[in-house]
Amino acid sequence: MDTLDIAFAEARRYLASLDHRPVKSRGSADDMRRPLPVRLPDQGMAAADVVRAIAAAAEPGLTGSAGGRFFAWVKGGALPAALATDIMCSAWDQNAVLASTSPAGAVLEELAGQFLLDALRLPADASYAFVTGCQMAHVTALAAARHAVLARAGWDVERQGLAAAPAIRVLANAHRHGSIERALRLLGLGTDCLVPLGGGEPGRVSVAALTDALAAAPDAPTIVILNAGDLNIGACDDFAALCPLAQAAGAWVHVDGAFGLWANASPRLAGLVAGVDQADSWATDGHKWLNTPYDCGMAITRDVAAHRAAMRLTAAYLTSGGAIRDPMDFTPEWSRRARALPALAALLELGRDGIAAMIERCCDHAAAIYDGITALPGATGIWRPTLNQGLIRFDAATGANISDAVIDAINASGEAFFSGGTWNGERVMRISVCGWNTSADDVARSVAAAGVALAGLR
Ligand SMILES: Cc1ncc(COP(=O)(O)O)c(C=O)c1O
Repeated sequence: MDTLDIAFAEARRYLASLDHRPVKSRGSADDMRRPLPVRLPDQGMAAADVVRAIAAAAEPGLTGSAGGRFFAWVKGGALPAALATDIMCSAWDQNAVLASTSPAGAVLEELAGQFLLDALRLPADASYAFVTGCQMAHVTALAAARHAVLARAGWDVERQGLAAAPAIRVLANAHRHGSIERALRLLGLGTDCLVPLGGGEPGRVSVAALTDALAAAPDAPTIVILNAGDLNIGACDDFAALCPLAQAAGAWVHVDGAFGLWANASPRLAGLVAGVDQADSWATDGHKWLNTPYDCGMAITRDVAAHRAAMRLTAAYLTSGGAIRDPMDFTPEWSRRARALPALAALLELGRDGIAAMIERCCDHAAAIYDGITALPGATGIWRPTLNQGLIRFDAATGANISDAVIDAINASGEAFFSGGTWNGERVMRISVCGWNTSADDVARSVAAAGVALAGLR
């Protein structure tokens, strides 16, 4: 068997096991170390032996996150065409930095970007960058925002830096994801510039809160960060009201739409994010709800010049793509894999209708899991999914909150995998459904596993 055949056989074995393998991995760290040498060998191993050993080492530590019963954090699986394209990308080993280093990487990325904007119903002339994940999408889009708000104040941040720059204020939804903070740190803005905004319905920013915050420093360069889908309840801000308000005050509006932006791809759910297309920049993920393999985030920016100004550089040995877009003009990376291709594959495999159907199906499954589990004694519904995220609290007969113990017991059963969170000060179990392959049977198995876990603990 040649090395690639071994890899394919291992990949197929894993995929075929998803229905019956425990969703939570059961191996110890030692189980994972055992098949491999303890020290770097002086002499290399045969390639086939390396692949077999790594497969054996990984096996006890693999979760079933590519399957249909993994509802922790916010994780999708990988659609067949996206997975297969990802494998081809590794074989092709293209450097999708410039059109000249990989014409295929550059041209197909352009198509992926155009299809992405179309699917998400965002301005067709917006710029885009395919980056590692939503974390780096924030960094990329907020670098464009930093450029634009400082340029309006007469400051060239790429040349002059931040040390003596006018202070930027960042007015952000109080329920923002931690990746926003980290993006601000990486961009040298720090977290002290953050002003948390709330005041609306759960997880949402009110018009009054934004109005007051904008008025507090009307002349300061300002970035407003809103949510399309918060991590706990999938709350989406009222973009139609908030975007024009912020923009009239000269602010740049950035949207964290890691998963929730995909609601805009569904005619049934688009109302939840009405007006989101009015923002100035958006960050989202392919590896969450579009179900590409990992290493797929997208930064999208209305102001193409600001995006390019924040990222672009030239060097004597780099050749311009001319009529073909050079990915590097928009990305923070230099060398990079052709990571837009699996996204292109997912977009083509599903098409507009298929994307909408997948997003809606996940939301329906999230509601069905919530309804099934909250019918059990000891389970209290905290948030019935309006999108694909829900919250449930579990109580013992004594009234003690046993949410974490129930999560551990469900996960230990191997039947399903959930994660916890804290909402309004109490521990809860989160339900997050993003997988293209979650089925009604997966929902039923997961509800049954919760029933067994809860009965054993009450
Ligand atoms: C709302 C939100 N924003 C940002 C992120 C960060 O995304 P990534 O892990 O792709 O960098 C996440 C991850 O779960 C998220 O849920």
